[in-house]
Amino acid sequence: MKWQIAIDGPSGAGKSTIAKLLANKLGIEYLDTGAMYRACTVKALRLGINLEDEEQYRFLEDTSIEFRNHEIYLDGENVAEAIRTLEVTKNVSMVCHFGYVREKMVELQRKMGESISIIMDGRDIGTVVLPNANLKIFLTADLAERAKRRMLEREEKGQNVQTLEETMDEMATRDYKDSHREIAPLCKAEDAIEIDTTNLSISEVVEKITSLVNERGFKMEENKNVEMSVAEEQVEAAQEEKVEEVTKQEVSAQPAEESTEVAAENEEASVSSEEEAETQEENSVKPLQLVKVVVLEVLPASKEVKKGDKVVRPAKEERVLVQLENGQEGLLFRNDLVDINEDEELVDQFMEGDELEAIVKKVFPDGGKVLLSQTLLEKRESLKKFEEAVANHEVLKAKVVKAIQVGLVLDHEGYTCLLPSTQITDKDADLASFVKQEIEVVPIRVDYNHIRLIVSQTVADAIKNKQEKNDFISSIKEGDVFDGTVKNITSYGAFVELGHGVEGLLHISEIDHNRVNKVEKVLNTGDAVKVQVIKVDTHRINLSRKALIPNYWKDFIDSCEVGATVKGIASDINNAGVVVDLNEHVQGFLPKSEVSWEKDANIEDLVTKGSEIEAKVIELDLNKKRIILSLKQLVANPWEEANFVIGATVTGTIVKILPEGFKVNVNGLSGYLPKGNVPKDTVLLEGQEVTGKVRAFEPERTRLIITLREDVEKATPKADKKEFGKYMKNDKVTNTFGDFLNLDDYKNLK
Ligand code: DC
Repeated sequence: MKWQIAIDGPSGAGKSTIAKLLANKLGIEYLDTGAMYRACTVKALRLGINLEDEEQYRFLEDTSIEFRNHEIYLDGENVAEAIRTLEVTKNVSMVCHFGYVREKMVELQRKMGESISIIMDGRDIGTVVLPNANLKIFLTADLAERAKRRMLEREEKGQNVQTLEETMDEMATRDYKDSHREIAPLCKAEDAIEIDTTNLSISEVVEKITSLVNERGFKMEENKNVEMSVAEEQVEAAQEEKVEEVTKQEVSAQPAEESTEVAAENEEASVSSEEEAETQEENSVKPLQLVKVVVLEVLPASKEVKKGDKVVRPAKEERVLVQLENGQEGLLFRNDLVDINEDEELVDQFMEGDELEAIVKKVFPDGGKVLLSQTLLEKRESLKKFEEAVANHEVLKAKVVKAIQVGLVLDHEGYTCLLPSTQITDKDADLASFVKQEIEVVPIRVDYNHIRLIVSQTVADAIKNKQEKNDFISSIKEGDVFDGTVKNITSYGAFVELGHGVEGLLHISEIDHNRVNKVEKVLNTGDAVKVQVIKVDTHRINLSRKALIPNYWKDFIDSCEVGATVKGIASDINNAGVVVDLNEHVQGFLPKSEVSWEKDANIEDLVTKGSEIEAKVIELDLNKKRIILSLKQLVANPWEEANFVIGATVTGTIVKILPEGFKVNVNGLSGYLPKGNVPKDTVLLEGQEVTGKVRAFEPERTRLIITLREDVEKATPKADKKEFGKYMKNDKVTNTFGDFLNLDDYKNLK
């Protein structure tokens, strides 16, 4: 049986580390699908294509991406390193959001996992690539934790490391893009098991997943793709430990020079300079060093004594003389001792040979006795309480004591803190201007050697920003309106920042009531845009711009109905009909066929451009933005009321002379008198009254033919039809003949 394990989750959640270890442990294959999207990005960047144009990714048709010994090869070249550059990381989200690219990669991924047991990690493995995987895991972790891991990873690889804030930003942006893209967005499959790795070690996560795998009946013997030797397993185990150890290390934010500058407990105990330290002998102790000492004796307070003409003042108070392990002598004064009451004599507390631990408080370059302190040792011990604050990125308040070359020295409740310049948010700030200010910092390391905390203002600000961002996100409700800024344009919409770096998606269909084909035609990066929230959930904020724009068509159509009479201005007249402005934003159309019941009516005789008309609504269609009007339907159809009997005598007026006949108005209807039906030598003029007989009457075709000849029945019907056809064709006003006569009728005439 082939086993498939899908591991999805945001960047830095530990997917690849875990997946690799698991694959080895279970003896099955591992496929890093993110690496494949990265390889596409490497090639796209090298080719210099327009990354935003999906068409240009056709290069993938003849691109090879393969894995050999777990390293990725692009067109035969090992690109394991090239895919991890910042440039690739910054652009990969764009590349992987295109449907075409995803299709290609998913096809490859499925092929690779077709015949073997495999673990794949990525964003859409459980949802798209391996929807039937035996086990689906969704790994998550705190953003700050993930950013730290990513920094360590880069640091280890000797790559450029951004600040924690920059890394958090970079990751948050990528997470957002990965989970907001239209195709295969990062999301947890319904049947996936979520594991938050923030406070779990790597081996704990591997263990957890291994037991899930086992619970589901995984049998190593059946699934192992490659047999692992004992030696290999040992190497793996060692690597596992190493990775774990590295992950547990703190992010060292100190600059190299920092070690030369020691911020100490108090001015007295403060440090010697680098040169000073260098002049000290190899085995001599250094300030703030923890030392073991043996009590030699307790020296009593002594008064001033005169030695020759010199006044010697050995000490005004009792102190303990001790010997250090390197043979040097040292002194512990009362105020540097702990657990001694004021009324207790030191001689009663210390005996020769007692072993103590203390911190070196001061070293005299001339080889004088070293000053030692137990209070400093106590302080050093108490620093342990900050380990938790470091782990939890706790924000502390601290007062700036002084500016030094490499940053600022601060005091937090009696504890010295060093804020290296690299961890100050405003990189151009004048350090001296901070002195005496209280600022917020996050301890990033407990520095026992120098009895202080290393703190970061950038991390504190990033956390505060994150907090504000989270608060802001949770305050967002459906219906809220924001003045946003367009941050990014994609083929399917625009990402709009609402505030605090929070972006929502304004889908292309939500930009305007009118169809928008290309986002850039309406919006550009940097544009201010008013938007309304139409949907919020944990993964996304969907926005609408059109919701805030009046929908004139909808309003009009909602307030109207078919059959209603409306007023409007005939703003344009053309061959097809009349455009009628129903209001400033909405137009109706009066087709030529709806102007009059008379087939040959001239629109301009009935409608004047610019004038107000009243018409009947005969069709409403909001989707097509179509309002069709009729003028003729305001009155009854005279053809329906007329009744002519063939052969009956009728009187009419010649209204128009046509090439092959005459248009005759008979009781308000347009009749036709073909020339052939006029007796020879009879001259007819426009306006002349004629009396004749009905030769044909078909009201449904608005057809009335009259003749002035006596021999009605002798007129050849065929010739008449031809004549009638010509009349219709020649008459310019009726050149959209089909409007008047439906096509079948027209064909019948021929
Ligand atoms: O895991 P990673 O950071 O190497 O992934 C690189 C990018 O590829 C990331 O932005 C998400 C994307 N990706 C994806 O869209 N689908 C996958 N199956 C794997 C990665």
